[in-house]
Amino acid sequence: MAGDGELDQLRQVFGQRMKPLLDMITSLAYAVEAKDPHTKGHSQAVSRWAAQIAMQMRLSEAEIEEIRLAGLVHDIGKIHVPESVLFKPTLLTAEEFELMKSHAAWGAKILEPMNVTGIERIVRHHHERYDGKGYPDGLAGDKIPLGARIMAVAECFDNMVCAVPYKIARTCEDALGELRRCRGTQFDPMVVDAFLRSIESLSRQRGSDSERKSANAER
Ligand SMILES: [Fe+2]
Repeated sequence: MAGDGELDQLRQVFGQRMKPLLDMITSLAYAVEAKDPHTKGHSQAVSRWAAQIAMQMRLSEAEIEEIRLAGLVHDIGKIHVPESVLFKPTLLTAEEFELMKSHAAWGAKILEPMNVTGIERIVRHHHERYDGKGYPDGLAGDKIPLGARIMAVAECFDNMVCAVPYKIARTCEDALGELRRCRGTQFDPMVVDAFLRSIESLSRQRGSDSERKSANAER
């Protein structure tokens, strides 16, 4: 199921106090997966990447967990998008593209009764662009909530490296190059830099882990 790992971790952090919210988020994560099984695992991965960026930027524990939760439901508004548009293998018409874009505002609307304003704002604004050319509100720079600027980088990276029907995955190097290219236009430069640093430290960590393993194997 989407987000099992993340939700287990959150249950440990927050304990029983947050259980109703986590249960609700779990249900919503199930709902978006039921609608679009091709993206199974996508919300979970976006949630992980976004939390990693937030940690790298040394945000507070509460902000990191809010971002992690928002990642699990960032595309919940896709429930509103007709399947003929969601799974269309060819280019969308202008009208269909408007319908697809509506998922951001619909996601926020779905979350509204839950009284989770921070998560709701991240979901509404995760397709804004740093240069103001995004949607739904055309916000620019730091007018876009930081969590949404983080989500934009995390979502775009995961979309690039994952293969879905009709789209071949790009290599990690290629995807990182694209983030660098769009640093300051589509994406907040500070967020891109934090993501690049976290990827570097992950690969350093993996490198030293495998060095340790082979050293142990030689003993
Ligand atoms: Fe989205």
